[in-house]
Amino acid sequence: MKVRSVEFVKSVTDVNDLPRDGLPELAIAGRSNVGKSSLINCLLNRKNLARTSSTPGKTRQLNYFRINNRFYFVDLPGYGFARVSKKEAAQWRRLIESYVERSPNLRGVLAIIDSRIGPTDLDLQLLEWLKALKVRVLVVSTKADKLSRGALLRQIQKFQQQLAPFLSAPLLAFSAATGSGKREVWREIVTLLE
Ligand code: GTP
Ligand code: MG
Repeated sequence: MKVRSVEFVKSVTDVNDLPRDGLPELAIAGRSNVGKSSLINCLLNRKNLARTSSTPGKTRQLNYFRINNRFYFVDLPGYGFARVSKKEAAQWRRLIESYVERSPNLRGVLAIIDSRIGPTDLDLQLLEWLKALKVRVLVVSTKADKLSRGALLRQIQKFQQQLAPFLSAPLLAFSAATGSGKREVWREIVTLLE
């Protein structure tokens, strides 16, 4: 994919404010601090478009980025951050749920997991739930640079088997630090958008 233009369109905290221009959307979901914003920046060749941070729980809104005036990336708030209250966690969950339910142009979700950790219980809950809603899912295993080649291959094989029931495309390894896997992730994104 040739990225010709990228615009930050808006941050949404209320699902009544979702954009209504009918462009297709891809959402990026995953645990807090897993590397969602870094993945977006890497795919779009921008340094700090989607704000990244070493403080987990930074992204608390749905952030809309319009690419080539053709489609949106939606950076979803991360889940599973230990230091938030049950109430806050429930609010996040409701926001994401109503987003998925009220977004007819959602073409798929990039579910991001950590290559060192693999799918957590919350990741599995999200995948179960996306499957029930018949949303297509691409699982991207990020921070691949943190593992040796051999260890990464073993992890990817293990995750692929474990997550097979949820996948509509093969699981992909990715690193925002090195850009490895970028081409493969774009290829699957294009397929989801078609
Ligand atoms: P929230 O918005 O809080 O949900 O987090 P996020 O999922 O958007 O994570 P973010 O992109 O902010 O990354 C969290 C931390 O992980 C930052 O310190 C990043 O620099 C680091 N990070 C993200 N991706 C990679 C990667 O592929 N490799 C390495 N080594 N570090 C990464
Ligand atoms: Mg973020």
